[in-house]
Amino acid sequence: MRHSAHRRDDAGGERAPEADPSPAPVDAELDELMAGLAEPQKRVSSKYFYDAVGSSLFQRITELPEYYPTRTEAALLQRVALVWMAEHAPASLAELGAGSAEKSRILIRSMLAAGTGRHFLAADVSGTFLERSARALREEFPELVVHTAVGDMTREIPSLHSLPAPRWLILLGSTIGNFDDDAARALLRRARGRLEPGDAFLLGVDLRPGPTKSLDELEAAYNDAEGVTAAFNRNILTVLNRRFGCDFDPEQFEHLAFYDEASHRIEMHLVSRIPQVVRVPGREEVRFAAGETLRTEISCKYDRPGVEAMAADAGLRLRRWEEEDGRFALALLTPG
Ligand code: AVJ
Repeated sequence: MRHSAHRRDDAGGERAPEADPSPAPVDAELDELMAGLAEPQKRVSSKYFYDAVGSSLFQRITELPEYYPTRTEAALLQRVALVWMAEHAPASLAELGAGSAEKSRILIRSMLAAGTGRHFLAADVSGTFLERSARALREEFPELVVHTAVGDMTREIPSLHSLPAPRWLILLGSTIGNFDDDAARALLRRARGRLEPGDAFLLGVDLRPGPTKSLDELEAAYNDAEGVTAAFNRNILTVLNRRFGCDFDPEQFEHLAFYDEASHRIEMHLVSRIPQVVRVPGREEVRFAAGETLRTEISCKYDRPGVEAMAADAGLRLRRWEEEDGRFALALLTPG
């Protein structure tokens, strides 16, 4: 759900400067930050990864040889989008989070080729980004009607009322993996609430290690040789410093990412190299012991029965399932 942006970053990319419009932190956000830092396992919300530098680093992650999810999902879309659309005949598509432009284009091309509809709604938290990509899509597909909705999908899913039915709500990239089980179920219920009989929900999920995807392959996707993921991980501290005026020293934290078999998820942490104290203006300072970690992300991995159960819980049925080499899967869910 990330957009590319343009900046020079510490993994060495040369880019044009662009300002980050960060509104002043509200009290609720500071409360949330402090609550996470007060837990025995310190943690911070993954939403802070995606400033301009972070979005640009994420874009680079999706192009790394080790990071299989993006290209695997694109291949899956190429394989099934047209077939599934020809069967299901969506009149409109609504994509949550700004997936890679490439994936939106595969979906749009498939819908136009299937001849079933010509409406596309792009929803994202960043308004500037949305308008930019909407303009590009209108130029590239003159027959397409492009709608935009600014909003945070962790709170709300945009209304689909202005879109002709049947509609497809779309959430790709295993973005759902950033939510713990309760939050993922809540998201699916909110999605279900936006759908009417005849509509569908297209979900992309990363799969658990198995016969065709080793643990090493999975962990390598979060520990790339070039260190782009490490730079992405550390950048969250720079974002916190700017947003909350803290004084994290990114140099004093080390990247750590591993698969936790018990919870079926990748966890990303930043490990404090030394004992250190971090100041947060207006709040109590935060102490890190040497070796103590700050958890910055969870990325849950799924299997078909799990997705089916989660969907059923939200009043959705698994209608289509397609996976690529046991690596990644697309699921088409329908109400009822
Ligand atoms: C965008 C949340 C799906 O979990 O794989 C990539 C983010 N973090 N490398 C993921 C991410 C580290 C990505 N998601």
